[in-house]
Amino acid sequence: MKWAILSDVHGNLEALQAVLQDLRAEKPGKIAFLGDAVGYGAEPEECISILRDLTDWAIAGNHDYGAVGLTDIEVFNPQARSAILWTRERLSEENQAYLRRLPLSRHDGGTAFFHATPNQPEEWYYLFTFPEAEEAFLSLPGDLAFIGHSHRPLILAQEGTREVEACPPEEVGLKPGVRYIINVGSVGQPRDGRPEAAYGIYDDGEKRYLLKRVPYDVQAAQKKILQAGLPAFFAQRLSRGI
Ligand SMILES: [Fe+2]
Repeated sequence: MKWAILSDVHGNLEALQAVLQDLRAEKPGKIAFLGDAVGYGAEPEECISILRDLTDWAIAGNHDYGAVGLTDIEVFNPQARSAILWTRERLSEENQAYLRRLPLSRHDGGTAFFHATPNQPEEWYYLFTFPEAEEAFLSLPGDLAFIGHSHRPLILAQEGTREVEACPPEEVGLKPGVRYIINVGSVGQPRDGRPEAAYGIYDDGEKRYLLKRVPYDVQAAQKKILQAGLPAFFAQRLSRGI
């Protein structure tokens, strides 16, 4: 079966709609969302409503839990915190209840799904360095995990107890005896130097993963952020992919 795996939409309706259009051609059997529907972008309510209908299931990101008071937002940087407080005022009761119900992880056979890391997902750790990757693999419940959170596509592989390797993040054929942690990047705020929306397609029959990039109307999303009175940096970063 073909999975579409989306993460980190962050209230960017333009990016989400472009990905929706792309999904019509991909026709995945299941759609999973790895968290952070809200924060930074100007249309959090609309994005949650779409994701609720679109996805087979979703898990929580730190911004989602932050928006409904389920995680401490004092650890967020001041701008991100201001966006969370802005978002909090704009969510319907129904969508707040939806965010509160989201779990921190999901499992499907040997495949696990987290927003942050397999080790203590509630701590919202980032996975950037090899020591962090070794730690994550120690907690990996099966052979494969999909993650988001850093907004940077990444494919890490570990054969047995050997050193973790970083593979090119665009595509991989999964080999038996090798375990993988794959970051699917971000739909609404990519931070790998490219502005296009990113999401992952995984075929669990063929054991193939592919990162997709989808251009969208970045200027329209930027304009909405500025009109909403959110920090201008949230708009600027979208065109630079930072
Ligand atoms: Fe995020």
